[in-house]
Amino acid sequence: MLKKIAVLPGDGIGKEVTKGAVEILEAVAERYGHSFQFEYGKIGGIAIDETGSPLPDETLEICKKSDAVLLGAVGGPKWDQNPPQLRPETGLLKIRKELNLYANLRPITYYSSLSEASPLRKEIIEEVDFIIVRELTGGLYFGKPSQRTVHHGKEAVVDTLFYQRDEIKRIVELAFQLARSRRQKVTSVDKANVLESSRLWREVANEVAKDYPDVELEHMLVDNAAMQLIRNPKQFDVVVTENMFGDILSDEASVLTGSLGMLPSASLSETGLNLYEPIHGSAPDIAGMNYANPLATILSAAAMLRLSFGLEEEAEAIEKAVKEVLDLGFRTRDISSQGSKVISTSEMVAEVKAAILDQEAISNIMGAYA
Ligand code: IPM
Ligand code: MG
Repeated sequence: MLKKIAVLPGDGIGKEVTKGAVEILEAVAERYGHSFQFEYGKIGGIAIDETGSPLPDETLEICKKSDAVLLGAVGGPKWDQNPPQLRPETGLLKIRKELNLYANLRPITYYSSLSEASPLRKEIIEEVDFIIVRELTGGLYFGKPSQRTVHHGKEAVVDTLFYQRDEIKRIVELAFQLARSRRQKVTSVDKANVLESSRLWREVANEVAKDYPDVELEHMLVDNAAMQLIRNPKQFDVVVTENMFGDILSDEASVLTGSLGMLPSASLSETGLNLYEPIHGSAPDIAGMNYANPLATILSAAAMLRLSFGLEEEAEAIEKAVKEVLDLGFRTRDISSQGSKVISTSEMVAEVKAAILDQEAISNIMGAYA
């Protein structure tokens, strides 16, 4: 199989983790006889510095000519004081909008070998397996107006939470379809006791549910959902929610798996040109130090193989390799606990690659870990 993949490393650890994921994709290509062509584009702070735009047209063109997009992370203190149009995050929001990536899937998978890395007790997190379906191109992130203003002569500010019925419908439908291939349960998260947008969300969810009598629908208020995620995360199968709630709840849910550095994501469009990225940010404090956990990006690459290319066996090979390496006790710093073998980003990539190719990695052979 020949596929073109656009790679947008972005800022901070984005460069290190995408480099790792590309190596893993190359290992998969080698083992299974595929050919992946990588074309690199700029996004975020580095794009601002080099082109004056957080998402240059050239980058969008590269994406549109590709079969899938792999993204690292954007942002950093250097650009934090910039006006909105010159912020790295604006590039990320723009690519989501331009490619119409309306559905962001964030699976929360439990790794038994990582139970020590989670702040929660083992009996709460073991066997946790759910997926957050986050609406990605609407809501507070994109509503207009969004600006500073003056109200009765005093400084004021406004952000807008805007949704069209159809936007709610398509994301909720996707959640129901997913639930059919899982445990047939959808939890729709909203704030319908306060927000009108949530009341329409709930109404639409109820309507969609009629077409899926085999799937159970439950509504949950977002504040309660935040608590239930910690109290009893096993109750969830598919969680569907609007953009900002999904952003917040998915960071919270990441601690169930041990670290933000473990969580992959897939952003799906109606056209089939999808984008894959870790849910973590650019972590400027550890950028360039070879400390970052590349597994979220590597697992995002696995999601690409499965969802964009239909390469299920190859996707599973990556996921299995990640599990094996964790079972062997290898850890990046973010997931380390007492007695674990702490290795660098590149060593972690080498371990996963070795597991895919059924070889022993250099760091394994030499015991080269601190
Ligand atoms: C995420 C990130 C982004 C978001 C930021 C970097 C704009 O937190 O993908 O979850 O809020 O969507
Ligand atoms: Mg986030």
